[in-house]
Amino acid sequence: LSVSSSLSVKASSSTAIAEPEGIKINSVSTKPIEGQKTGTSGLRKKVKIFKEENYLANWIQALFNSLPPEDYKNGVLVLGGDGRYFNLEASQIIIKIAAGNGVGKILVGKEGIMSTPAVSAANGGFIMSASHNPGGPEYDWGIKFNYNSGQPAPESITDKIYGNTLSISEIKMADIPDVDLSTLGVTKYGNFSVEVVDPVSDYLELMENVFDFELIKSLLSQSDFRFIFDAMHAVTGAYAKPIFVDKLGASLDSISNGVPLEDFGHGHPDPNLTYAKGLVDIMYAENGPDFGAASDGDGDRNMVLGRGFFVTPDSVAIIAANAQEAIPYFTSGPKGLARSMPTSGALDRVAEKLNLPFFEVPTGWKFFGNLMDAGKLSICGEESFGTGSDHIREKDGIWNALLQIPYRITNLSKCRAVLAWLSIIAFRNKDKKPGEKLVSVADVVKEHWETYGRNFFSRYDYEECESEGANKMMEYLRDLVSKGKPGDKYGNYTLQFADDFTYTDPVDGSVVSKQGIRFVFTDGSRIIFRLSGTGSAGATVRIYIEQFEPDVSKHEMDAQIALKPLIDLALSVSKLKDFTGRDKPTVIT
Ligand code: G6P
Ligand code: ZN
Repeated sequence: LSVSSSLSVKASSSTAIAEPEGIKINSVSTKPIEGQKTGTSGLRKKVKIFKEENYLANWIQALFNSLPPEDYKNGVLVLGGDGRYFNLEASQIIIKIAAGNGVGKILVGKEGIMSTPAVSAANGGFIMSASHNPGGPEYDWGIKFNYNSGQPAPESITDKIYGNTLSISEIKMADIPDVDLSTLGVTKYGNFSVEVVDPVSDYLELMENVFDFELIKSLLSQSDFRFIFDAMHAVTGAYAKPIFVDKLGASLDSISNGVPLEDFGHGHPDPNLTYAKGLVDIMYAENGPDFGAASDGDGDRNMVLGRGFFVTPDSVAIIAANAQEAIPYFTSGPKGLARSMPTSGALDRVAEKLNLPFFEVPTGWKFFGNLMDAGKLSICGEESFGTGSDHIREKDGIWNALLQIPYRITNLSKCRAVLAWLSIIAFRNKDKKPGEKLVSVADVVKEHWETYGRNFFSRYDYEECESEGANKMMEYLRDLVSKGKPGDKYGNYTLQFADDFTYTDPVDGSVVSKQGIRFVFTDGSRIIFRLSGTGSAGATVRIYIEQFEPDVSKHEMDAQIALKPLIDLALSVSKLKDFTGRDKPTVIT
């Protein structure tokens, strides 16, 4: 069994398009269902909605109706998910519709489990996940589609899917029994087949070929380096023990919440200071571990902490600054750097210093893909706890600690010892003798601030507000922005410009507008307002606040204290309390 070779099989455009042979296809009649428009990252709704008649089936069929047949007929698609409630039922629906539409083979993770980064390593596939949203019968479910190079489907495709959901009348469903997802192996139905794969063992096999495990192992096995990984009872639970413990020599108790559960153990699998509080408490306790990381529902987000130290807002900038030296995959230097608009400008300073092309894209990982395919970008990140590189087309939670599965990279020798954070720490301590002081995570971050200055950054979320008030607030801000002029005074800050972010993709020229309202001040400070595109109910308001501080003597200030004047300004400018009735955020990162 070799997932890697199967995953690289593309839908063959040279084969004649044949209708599925040897299986009966039922034509199920259906009616359009309102509201199936995808958000920042796939279609997300409450489980109850997905369980309504034909809800999921309509969307999947609409997707096939939107793709050129040569993209999937007789081809291979991957199917995986984060282990949440409804995934098993959904898998059967997706498999039958894929077969009904002429897909040749589905590769599905055992029990339907496969992380988002792993699915992204394939040429196309479905991810059953609502990412960091809670799971269970009362909570969320979601579906994402990855296209050709494994990148999240671009808006040109998701718009087509949405259009087709509004006119759909027929679902093509193969008349085949439910597939047993608990047993590895291939089952054939006519010329359609399903292969249940164990993503973990294949990952490991491949990783042993591409990693210098010895370097990280030498760090993880030192008794004075203590490591902890919090899988939040989500998909990386399936990967953590085999990778960190069995192969890299970390102790078993370094994995917490390591068993994937359908409801994430009643948790909210979002690795941030609010929802991964357990890890935060451990890292801030006296004499806590040296390195802590957590990942979200589907394994693409990450949070990184040192002892008593929160790294994440600076993580992508520090990875970029150290990549060439510490990460062999980037030996010839990263091709370019990019971040989403609301993400801290710390990365901009690294790009400038290293003289690298730099891009600012809207929120949503899908906007990085074109730049990567065009060879313009290798390291990127988002404020929403996502960092990654062009090894795949998704952000990658485990990569952040050590790079995950570069399936598609043909020259494997090029990416020996590809590591991110653990690599940086291991590299910085490679000559350290037992008992000598460790160059800590905090040391690395503080040195970075000394060199580049510190971008204080914070995000305030107001989750599940009434949509009406939130929309009115955005309209009010849009109006304010249209009237704003350079030089306008906002308290002690002077406006440089204000706008609603529009992005023109430098590769294909496509334009997206209304991507976030920003007030940029003359000292580089920014306040930004957006409505989240990943919620499943009401509206989540996000406020992003950033201020640059070149003065080293102020770098150790708490971000909340340093940013207080700007936060107050953001709240008064937006009249947030009047519009939403909220006087406190639900999440602060
Ligand atoms: C997902 C996407 C990211 C995005 C994040 C927040 O994780 O993959 O690209 O940054 O959601 O999106 P939101 O629209 O909720 O701010
Ligand atoms: Zn996620």
